[in-house]
Amino acid sequence: MDKLIIQGGSRLNGEIKISGSKNSGLPILAATLLADGPMHICNLPHLNDITTMLALLRCMGVDVTIDEKMCVEIDPTTIRDFEAPYELVKTMRASILVLGPLLARFGKADVSFPGGCAIGSRPVDIHLRGLEAMGAEIEVDGGYIRARAPKGLKGARFLMDKVTVGGTENLLMAAVLAEGTTWLENAAREPEIVDLAECLVAMGAKIEGIGTDQLEIQGVKQLHGCTYSVMPDRIETGTYLAAAAATGGRVKLRATRADILEAVLLKLEEAGAKITVGEDWIELDMEGRRPRAVSLRTAPYPAFPTDMQAQFTAMNAVSEGASAVVETIFENRLIQTHELNRMGAHIVLEGNTAMIEGVEKLKGAPVMASDLRASASLVIAGMVAEGETTVDRIYHIDRGYECIEEKLQMLGANIRRVPG
Ligand code: UD1
Repeated sequence: MDKLIIQGGSRLNGEIKISGSKNSGLPILAATLLADGPMHICNLPHLNDITTMLALLRCMGVDVTIDEKMCVEIDPTTIRDFEAPYELVKTMRASILVLGPLLARFGKADVSFPGGCAIGSRPVDIHLRGLEAMGAEIEVDGGYIRARAPKGLKGARFLMDKVTVGGTENLLMAAVLAEGTTWLENAAREPEIVDLAECLVAMGAKIEGIGTDQLEIQGVKQLHGCTYSVMPDRIETGTYLAAAAATGGRVKLRATRADILEAVLLKLEEAGAKITVGEDWIELDMEGRRPRAVSLRTAPYPAFPTDMQAQFTAMNAVSEGASAVVETIFENRLIQTHELNRMGAHIVLEGNTAMIEGVEKLKGAPVMASDLRASASLVIAGMVAEGETTVDRIYHIDRGYECIEEKLQMLGANIRRVPG
């Protein structure tokens, strides 16, 4: 297994380009199943999760052609299998996103039940109940969700009793081809859902309320192919900003957007960062200062994203002062704090809250990543630590960060990958 070896102590300084969004690329790739002709999707990040989603489409018989710039041409009309097998779903839970499109377009889907993962149990009950409300018959059998809608799906009013990103995406993709109108209430409003909805509209879908928690979808008979470019990755953006802040550095991130990162930018300013933004760039300058500790609470968009919690916990670990970080979305997502403590951080866990007493310096150590964002937090910690840090199990990081060591090297970090 590959490892990252980091010599701490460099202040990040420089300019990099942000990649396309993993979390909007995945549902958009699933949405290509809804089209009745070829789709062209551009600005996809070159990441394992994206490759897994393409492999899933291909194993269903879908024709996928990819160029060197990660622009993909997908012809869903060649599909011959309607199954998402365990081997692929177990490596990526987002495979569940093919359920809604398969059911809406072809009336059947067999999708392996996604299990839990390191950050919590992660059920899909709301996805299934929403599809049932739209007339699907669903059985769970032999570890598979077997869903059928031989006469097609019907529009329905469905209130999601918890805000779920994947659930909203699955039901939105199902509703665009359902007969009649669907109202999704208490829908998630994450920018990735807006991106998916805009792609669906470009395919001919009729959706009102995009960007709000009430989506009204008028089903159409068919959707056509289109060309769509995936939005920038706001979590990758936030990660490099937090890394620069933790090291007292300065970065300019290009090909990104400030409007989808408001909660994160506000917290960085509270930490003492000087932030300047343009139409497609964000610059952060700590002017060599140590960050001030910032307390935060994760919640659905537009509040502070759970996917940025670990990186801010790492920054807080070396900040001036004390802070409380409350995780309200996933029950097990403060797990990386134990690894940070092994590097000399002072973090006490009380239920879903991390109480952090900032220390001046962390000490390099061998640490192990438990999930994607936790790995990013360990890389940040390694960059501010004295001496050498080895981050093991970085296959997690490769699921979500394109060329992480190259990008960090360009910003002046001393980091290298060692094949395991
Ligand atoms: C997506 C993101 C992930 C992010 C998360 C929250 C992708 C590929 N992943 O994950 O990076 O951390 O949103 O912003 O986009 N829940 C239920 N029943 C359900 C569905 C969800 O109880 O049927 C619960 C989950 O256990 C969790 C909460 O709802 O506690 C939010 O989960 P959800 O928004 O669905 O996360 P994902 O879509 O899996």
